[in-house]
Amino acid sequence: MSNLIASTAPRARQLTHEEIHEIEHEKTHYPYPQAVGLEALKIVQKYQGWVSDESLLAVAAYLQIPPDDLEGVATFFNLIYRRPVGKNVILFCDSVACWMLGCDSLKAHITKTLGIEYGQTTTDNLFTLIPVPCLGDCDKAPTMMVGNESYRNLTPTSIDQIIADHKAKA
Ligand code: FES
Repeated sequence: MSNLIASTAPRARQLTHEEIHEIEHEKTHYPYPQAVGLEALKIVQKYQGWVSDESLLAVAAYLQIPPDDLEGVATFFNLIYRRPVGKNVILFCDSVACWMLGCDSLKAHITKTLGIEYGQTTTDNLFTLIPVPCLGDCDKAPTMMVGNESYRNLTPTSIDQIIADHKAKA
């Protein structure tokens, strides 16, 4: 008897030429293809904005890695986004040096200003807020990144300005 119920399980999508080209380039830096898993996920995320189940399955199939193993890599590395994110991802440092210099009150300020908590995205899809361990700028704490830009010696006023600047660019 044929199965008339369509499966809703995610299926691997087709990787784009650009993604394949960059993954192939990364492979030249590693001794075996499976070691490229994390870099391949970063490449997919660069083009797609996040890593959907379909993308993860595509990378796993391409590199011949068990999907569960690749999922483990994605889960361990918290800068691989497994859900859609906003246009600007705010990586907010909440490690020791930033904590000693008041990142808790700044976190309260930014969450109140944006109306979101860690892991959430604003309703206008402009900002996603993610806590991260030390950004390597402890002598200029408190710090955060928005996209590839670093912001140091944060204050409530500078945070307001950074948010306003990114809204203006939207
Ligand atoms: S603890 Fe925040 S930059 Fe190091």
